[in-house]
Amino acid sequence: MSKIKTIVNSWNEWDPLKHVIVGKADGTCIPAPEPALDAKVPEDSDMRGQFGPRTKDTVDKANQLLDNFSNILIKRGIKVDRPDPINFNQKTSTPDWEADTMFGCMPPRDVLLTVGNEILEATMSYRCRWFEYLCYRPLLKKYYDDDPNMKHESAPKPRLTDADYRKDYLSDKIGIQKRLKWTEDKFFVTTEEEPLFDAADVLRFGKDLVVQHGFTTNLKGIDWLKRHYKDHRVHAVNFPGDPYPIHIDATFTPIKEGLIINNPQRKLPKEQRKLFENNGWEIIDSAQPAHNEPPPLCYSSTWLSMNVLVLDPKTVCVEKSEVYQADQLDRLGMEVIPVDMRDAYAFGGGLHCCTADVYREGELKDYFP
Ligand code: NVA
Repeated sequence: MSKIKTIVNSWNEWDPLKHVIVGKADGTCIPAPEPALDAKVPEDSDMRGQFGPRTKDTVDKANQLLDNFSNILIKRGIKVDRPDPINFNQKTSTPDWEADTMFGCMPPRDVLLTVGNEILEATMSYRCRWFEYLCYRPLLKKYYDDDPNMKHESAPKPRLTDADYRKDYLSDKIGIQKRLKWTEDKFFVTTEEEPLFDAADVLRFGKDLVVQHGFTTNLKGIDWLKRHYKDHRVHAVNFPGDPYPIHIDATFTPIKEGLIINNPQRKLPKEQRKLFENNGWEIIDSAQPAHNEPPPLCYSSTWLSMNVLVLDPKTVCVEKSEVYQADQLDRLGMEVIPVDMRDAYAFGGGLHCCTADVYREGELKDYFP
C-alpha cells in the first residue's frame, strides 16, 4: 500500500520550514489609480499619478534577488516553488468595474493563507489584485492532485463596487495627522459593504489567528474568517500609530514560541496585549530600520526591516542591509541569514511578503490556553 504524502501543512510562523512558494517579479506593473490603492500610496510618493509596467532593468534585478533567495532556501533543504506570472499589463473587468492594469506576483503572502492542510485564497481588496490568484493556480492544482488531504479554498470574490470604499480617502491631501486620527478611530478606506481581507493581515499562532483590521481587511472579512476557521479563535487587532495600515508583517512579527517583535511606532494597544502577556509571551520593540526612506517606487515603509522569514525557531532570514534588526535577532539567540532583497521591495515587499508557506513541520498547538 503506498503511503499518502502530505504536501500542505503549516500552523504557525516559526516551525521548521520545508516547502515554500517564492514570488516572481516578471511583468509587475504600477497599477492604475483606483479607490483603495490611492488611499495607500503615500501622499509624497513618486508613484502618484503614474502607472504601467516597471522597467526591464528593475524587473531583472528583482528577479535576480528572488532567484538568489530561492537558492539560499534550496541549499538549506527547503523545497521552493514559483508562481506562473500572467500578463499584468492588460485591462481587467467584471460587470461592476474596470481596471487598466493588474499588479504582479512578487508577494504570494498577500494572497495565500495556509492553515494546516488548507490553502485559502484571500478576497483581496484592490481591483488590480482581483485576478492575482491565477498565478498560483498551477501550484495549487498540483498540491491538490498530489495530496488527497489538501484543501484548496477560495473566499467569496468581492464585488469591489464604489460602495466598498470611503470617499473621504480619495483626496491626495489628507495629511498624516488626520490619517493617524482616522486609524485611531478605525475609520479605514474600506467600508463594511462585504467581507474583505488580504492574507498578509493574518498571523498564525496554532489555534489562534491574529488579524489586523485596517485598509485591506474589514470587520466583515474578520467575521468571515471566524466562521470559516471554526476550530480556531480569531482575534482582531489594531495598530493606532500606522497612518497606512495594510498587512501586519511589518508591524507585528512572531519570531518563535513566546517571542514577538512589535514596531515601536505601531504598538499593540494594552487591552490587546493581554492574550499574549497572560500566556507568558514577550512582546518587545523591534530594532530601528537601517534606512530613512524606502527605495524608489516602493509602496511599503522602511519597516520592511521587520519583514523577516523565520526558517525555524533558531534561524531567521533578515534583509542584508538591515543591520540593526539583524543585530537584535542575533542578540536574541537566533542564527541570522542575511538576504539581499532591498532592490525588490518595490515589487511588493520584503522576505516575508515574497514567500508563502506550503509545509512547516509541526502540529496544531494551543499557545494561549
Ligand atoms: N504596512 C506595511 C506593509 C508591509 C508589508 C508597511 O509598513 O509598509
